[in-house]
This record gives sequence, C-alpha cells and structure tokens, in this order.
Amino acid sequence: MNPSSRSLFVTTALPYANGNFHIGHIMEYIQADTWVRFQRMQGHKVHFVCADDAHGAPIMIAAEKAGITPQQFVANIAAGRKPYLDGFHIAFDNWHSTDGPENHQLAQDIYRGLKANGLITTKTIEQFFDPEKQMFLPDRFIKGTCPKCGAKDQYGDSCESCGAVYAPTELKDPYSALSGATPVMKSSEHHFFALSDPRCAQFLQEWTHTPGRLQPEVLNKIKEWFAKDEQGNGGLGDWDISRDAPYFGIEIPDAPGKYFYVWLDAPIGYLASLKNYFDTGKARANGELRSYDEFMADPATEQYHFIGKDITYFHTLFWPATLHFSGRKTPNAVFVHGFLTVNNGEKMSKSRGTGLDPLKYLSLGMNPEWLRYYIAAKLNGKNEDIDFNPADFMARVNADLVGKFINIASRSWGFISKRFGGQLGDPGAEGQALLEALAAQASTIAQCYDSRDTARALREVMLLADKVNAYVDLHKPWELANPKNHDKYLEQGLSIDSVNERLQAVCTTSLQAFRLLTLYLKPVLPALATQVEAFLNVAPLVFADAAKLLPAGHTIGTYEHLMRRVDTPQIDKLFEPPALVAQAVSATEAGKPTATQSDEPGPSASACPGGEAIAPTISIDDFAKVDLRIAKIVACERVEGSTKLLRLTLDVGETDDTGQPTTRNVFSGIASVYTPEQLVGQLTVMVANLAPRKMKFGLSEGMVLAASHANEKAQPGIHVLTPWPGATPGMRIH
Ligand code: MSP
Ligand code: ZN
Repeated sequence: MNPSSRSLFVTTALPYANGNFHIGHIMEYIQADTWVRFQRMQGHKVHFVCADDAHGAPIMIAAEKAGITPQQFVANIAAGRKPYLDGFHIAFDNWHSTDGPENHQLAQDIYRGLKANGLITTKTIEQFFDPEKQMFLPDRFIKGTCPKCGAKDQYGDSCESCGAVYAPTELKDPYSALSGATPVMKSSEHHFFALSDPRCAQFLQEWTHTPGRLQPEVLNKIKEWFAKDEQGNGGLGDWDISRDAPYFGIEIPDAPGKYFYVWLDAPIGYLASLKNYFDTGKARANGELRSYDEFMADPATEQYHFIGKDITYFHTLFWPATLHFSGRKTPNAVFVHGFLTVNNGEKMSKSRGTGLDPLKYLSLGMNPEWLRYYIAAKLNGKNEDIDFNPADFMARVNADLVGKFINIASRSWGFISKRFGGQLGDPGAEGQALLEALAAQASTIAQCYDSRDTARALREVMLLADKVNAYVDLHKPWELANPKNHDKYLEQGLSIDSVNERLQAVCTTSLQAFRLLTLYLKPVLPALATQVEAFLNVAPLVFADAAKLLPAGHTIGTYEHLMRRVDTPQIDKLFEPPALVAQAVSATEAGKPTATQSDEPGPSASACPGGEAIAPTISIDDFAKVDLRIAKIVACERVEGSTKLLRLTLDVGETDDTGQPTTRNVFSGIASVYTPEQLVGQLTVMVANLAPRKMKFGLSEGMVLAASHANEKAQPGIHVLTPWPGATPGMRIH
C-alpha cells in the first residue's frame, strides 16, 4: 500500500425522502463523486456513503395522506434512486436510511453523551396544536390571513402576497392545513441542546477557525451568526431538538412521547450509513478490514461532507458540536456549494417543463458525462450559484470536450492501427518535449481537483489539448500519410521510411498525449476513461501514471467511437414543456355535444360503451403528451355566480424557487354532484400540462378527470377519479 495513502470518509447531504432527485441533487453528487474518484486516483482509500433522510412531520403527513406507513412511503422513494445514481455514474459505496436501526442506536447514544455532558436542558413552550389531528403543527402546516396585507391562505411564517415575515401566532383566523380546524395554543416540554453554554461557543469558534476546515466565504457567514448585537442578543441560542408524538422519528431515551427533531438525527445518518456499510461486509469487500468502531477511532481517519449552502448552519455549528460533545471525531472539512439554476434561475418546475429533469435527460440518450463535464466546468470550489445554460452546455461539450479532446484520438489512431499494426513508436524530440510539458501539469491539475476547483482543472486540461492540436496541425499526419505527397518528400531529400517514422512519431505523441489528458479528465469522465483504457490497452489510470509514458512498441487495442456531439433537437426536446394537449381535448369536447344532444338511440352499446364510440387509435407517443398527475384537493369552494363550477386548489407536488409548495387553481363543472366538504383532502387525477384557460371567474390551470355517460339524461352523474392508496401528489400516470 502507498505509505502516504490516507483513509477518507466522504458524504453528500442526505436527500429528503419525500420526492425524486432533481438536477440540484445530481449536481451535488457529481461534485462529490468527482472529488472521491480523484482521491482514489491519488492512491487514497475512500468510503463514500449517503442515505435517505426519512424522518420529520412533512413525510409523516404525506404518508398518511397516501394511506401508507411512513416506512413504506420512504421505501417507495428509495426504490427510485438507482436509475439516477447509476445513470450519472455516481458511485456511492453505500445507500442507507436515517430510519435504519443503526441510526436509532447512534442518535440515542449521542444524545446520552450530550446529556452526560450537561448539555441537554428542558423548557416548556407554547405552540399551535391541531385539536382534531391531536398534534402540534409545524409552521408550514398552519395557514391563515396575513396580519399585514390581509391576503388569505398564507403560510404560518411568511406571506406570499406581500412578503411579510411573522410568527404563526400573528396570523388572523389561523387554521390547520391538515384538518382545517382552528388551532389552539398548547404547552409542552421540549428538550434543548444548550448551545448557549460557553463551552459550545468556545469549541465552535476554535473548530470553525481551524485552517482548511471551511471556505473563507463560509467562515464569514458564520461570523455573522456568532455575532451579538449591542443588546447582547443573537449569538448561539439553545437548539430545540425534540418534537411531540405523533412524529416520524427516533424516540428520545427516557422521555416517553418525545422524538428527536429530524435535524438532530439526519446528520447522524452519515455515521449510520457508514456503520451499515461496515456491518454488512461491504467495507470488507472494498478492502477495509477494520470494524466501524476501529475505523472511527483511528485519529488518521478523515471525514468530509459535501453540502449546499442552505444547510450550512446545521453542518458547521450544530453537527460539529453534536459530535464533539458526545465524544466523537468532528469533520475535517465541510465543503459548501451554491445552487444550480436552470435557464437563468427560471422556476424548477417539472410539470411546466422549465427545469432539467435528470431522467428525461438520460431517456433522450444524452451522455451523462456531458453533464458531468459541464457541471465540473462550472464549479470552482466556492459556494457561488451556477446556471445551466443550454447554449453554453452545447458549446462546452461540442467545442471543448469533443472538438478539442476526443478529436485528438480520432485524428491519430487510424494511422497507428492501419500503418503500424497498432504499435506506438518513439515520439521524437519535439513530441517528447510536448509530452513532458503535459506531464508537468499533473500536480497543478491535482491541486485544482483537491480544492474542488474543477473549473480550473478543466481549463488547464483544455489549454493542454490546444497545444496538442496545434502540434498535430503543424505536423499534419494526414499529409505525411498521403502517397500523393511522396514525390514532394523525396524532392526534399526525405526517404519514405523517414516520412513513415515521422508519421508514427506524430501519431504516437498524439495518443500518448491523449492518454495523459484522459488521466486528467478521469475523475469527471469515468466511463469515457474506461473506454480509453481499453482502446489504449492500459491498466486503469491513476495520477502517478502521469510520470511515465507508454513504451515504444506498445500495442493499442481497437478504437470504438468515444463520444458524439450534442445536437440541437436533443436540447430542444430536453427543455420542451410537456406538449400541450389543447387539440386533443377540444376534439373530444367537439365530439361530445352531438352525443349528448341526441336523444335517439345511438349505435349498439358494445360499439358505444358509456354512450360514445371509442376514439380513433393514438400512438403511445400521443398518449405521452398528456401529462396526468396525482393531485390532492387541498381546498375547494363554490364559485359565486355559477351553479356548475367548483374552484379546486390542487397540490401536484410542485414547489417554487425557494422550495415552498405551490398549488394550482382549477375550475371543474362538478358542483351539481359534489360538495366542497366531500372533496377536500381527497386525491384525484389531473391533466397537468393543459394550456391554462382564462375563465370568467379566473385562470384555470389544468383539468380534473371525471367519468360520465355521454347521455346525461339516460345515466346521470359525474364521477371524479381517485387513485388507489399509495399514490401521492405529483406522481405521473403512465
Ligand atoms: N435532508 C436535508 C439534508 C440533511 S443532511 C444530514 C436536505 N435535503 S434536500 O433534499 O433538500 O437537499 C439535499 C442537498 O441538495 C442539499 O445539500 C441541498 O443544498 C442540495 N440542493 C437542493 N437544491 C439544490 C440546487 N438547486 N442546486 C444545488 N444543490 C441543491 O436539505
Ligand atoms: Zn401579506
């Protein structure tokens, strides 16, 4: 083993198990996966783990609405993770859940450690309580009228209409978003982590200021959090770490009916996933022979967390303090990245088609390593936001990755394989000098990767690719190889043998250079590197390989096409909003009146099930244009001035930029058969990509599905569709 080999434990943030991955998650995983692959190429041992963040009130409530247990709910989400991770070549060594037994055990042990250190206090606090649901309400689940502007149906913490921020107790006419009941104030004893204890402030000052631990911009932010104002307010307050039953979480020892707040046990899930990885023998299979306890007790073990800027507070204050005061190793560093936006920060809403759906990207046959390359080319190790811009994406992939890098191989392999039996020759003096210049950059590039400045690493690599292409342009192997030029060379006093030798030297240099550049790009492009290793007939490349070239006489393998360019139709498809179905719908609407107006018996019942003939056949692609989603009717009211319409507020699992849930307004002609009370809280199916329609009473943003007989008189009734238990808002109907 390499004597300078280090032992690393690396994580990304644990995603909430309440939805599928979006492109922001994938960005974080690409950043961490690239860093991990780089460290391994340096000869270090890395264990790279993640897990689902399972606990908390929102997941409990979502599961209840779906009619399944929270465990089943989380398992359903977990079951969908693999295609994303495999698809983008993100190679976690383990994926676990914060609801696993390891986390229950570890969280309780850690809590006992904090308690033994005198850092757990209790205090009775008053909070809104839903008397119908018999539970305390998180702020998000309290709604009411804005105390500032009077807007109705605002969340408990801020008003979407005027932007005011307030406490839930300030809302006028508050109601529970769960049951509609008026919440009452109720007191309960809560457990606190006494972060105001001077020991905590002292430890955290020291921990956060230790060089290398945090990025400078992150440390600056933390200084603000530490700061107290003139009145001595601010600074670190005690942290409320308990929640009352019912709660989906981990029970607090010796405190019946109390659970850990999800943010207490979530980061402990890092350790739980690592422990699970050790205890199930996976670590051993990866060559790690120590036990979990031995590994964590080793002072040489290094611990790193990749996270987004929104969760900095939890990871740089709460988490190190939790670990330290329960007698555990603290992270060596927390790496904070910014947010990814798409098309200049347009809303990331899947159903409106403005985001970048990772699975859609893959299903279009787009190369996952294009995205890895693009993201790496944007990230510089700071916590700045980055934007996915389609034109920029195409330019970088096509002009740089394919045009500059892949091109080097395609320009030279054919001559080596056809003219020289696949054998490399001597690069010649000039080639040797070029290759040495390339190899000399290994440590600079490694330094860039190590500091997560992949933007600079890739810039350096592209500068080297420019040099190689300039060399090839200068020596024109295609001219050296062209028999038509032989006379010209003979006139210059060159023998055909020496021309051939030159051709072999130029192509050898190109392929040797291609090998070095592949090595430098391998953390970002692992699958491409594997292909190149096969083509060049070399063992898996590691950074130390930059110091040596392939020997003359080395035989390369067969070239397989390495990577193509992105094309515009693909990009157009990627961002195409799910096709509008206006025509399809107006066609059925147009067909309907004839059927309903006619009281004459129509064609036989079998030809006309439900009173109308089956519509002409469509292809699966036509069907796929209709985006049907599970929607939850969160509110419903009669429409003044209409006897037919009900106004429905639907939750189809969408959120806005800030992650706040958003809803749709839909008018439906079902007032004659349903009362609002019957509908609120039910799940149904909606057409989510129907062009919004302006109606007399307001904008209708979709359509709810309902069944009816074509001949209303013969068979009255309208029947709204409901899914079987288990479906949750936002799920697509396929
Ligand atoms: N469950 C918590 C983390 C617990 S860690 C012990 C959570 N989950 S999350 O699903 O909301 O976010 C997971 C990670 O994705 C976070 O690091 C978050 O910053 C990151 N991102 C979420 N949206 C993002 C972008 N648009 N861009 C980049 N990363 C973003 O927070
Ligand atoms: Zn307001």
